[in-house]
Amino acid sequence: MIKIAIMNQKGGTGKTTSVINISGELIRQGKKVLIIDMDTQGNATSNIKIISEPNKNMADAIIDSNITINDIICHTIIDGLDIIQGGALLGNVFVTLQKMLMGKETVLKRLLDKLPSNIYDFILFDCSPSLESILNINVLVSTDYVLIPIRVDKNSIEGYATMLETIKEARETVNPSLKALGIFMTAVETGSSLDKEMINEFPKMLPDLAFKTYIRKNIEVRKAPLTLQPLCFYNSKCIGSQDYFNLTNEILERLEAEDKQ
Ligand SMILES: Nc1ncnc2c1ncn2[C@@H]1O[C@H](COP(=O)(O)OP(=O)(O)OP(=O)(O)O)[C@@H](O)[C@H]1O
Ligand SMILES: [Mg+2]
Repeated sequence: MIKIAIMNQKGGTGKTTSVINISGELIRQGKKVLIIDMDTQGNATSNIKIISEPNKNMADAIIDSNITINDIICHTIIDGLDIIQGGALLGNVFVTLQKMLMGKETVLKRLLDKLPSNIYDFILFDCSPSLESILNINVLVSTDYVLIPIRVDKNSIEGYATMLETIKEARETVNPSLKALGIFMTAVETGSSLDKEMINEFPKMLPDLAFKTYIRKNIEVRKAPLTLQPLCFYNSKCIGSQDYFNLTNEILERLEAEDKQ
């Protein structure tokens, strides 16, 4: 079971879109995936059709240690894709965590440690656009890898350095095995001269981290959430699906190379 957080402290860089569409591609390759929505906005939760909803949620599990991770998993309309819901319900969690004297950063890890490792091939965390959030700190304590989507603009490009610094800090303090899996560009406009320049320059700037695949801007990417399913199940032929297919393969290749080291 490989745990990947899709994180960037900047808003609107394609985190949620990528969590859902990479999950879709992994499912198409026969993998079993659990999405954990750790964002109070709850966009991942509201973009997938949930078909069975337990009466307990992440907030209950954090507040009451008798509730296990299995008690809060929802099945979705996509076979092999489950989700733990986020959204406003996570608001209660903040209060509880603030009151905890010990272990507030490891609550999520302790929950996940009880999940048998043979149920899911992947856990993907959708995160809020923040670094200081205690929920994101819990994710950094729990995950194996961080994947960073960026938009091609000046602030995003500056933002990834902060993200990499945070990963390093987490590795040196709370999660020694944490790694940055890589950085990829989203919503790229291939007709724009700035984007064209970034397509060429970005891999040279970060040869070890930049993914060759970038996700092009595509209206189908925005339509798929309205149908409550990952893009590849809505329109498997569009350029967004092609790009997420290529990105997922590149992610899998990178993970395989890691495994051999
Ligand atoms: N490749 C793409 N083509 C077109 N639109 C896209 C693409 N990727 C993302 N978008 C759109 O950009 C917006 C932001 O994407 P998304 O919600 O995934 O970002 P986010 O990083 O999760 O945002 P937040 O930080 O608020 O959680 C959404 O409206 C989404 O539909
Ligand atoms: Mg989001």
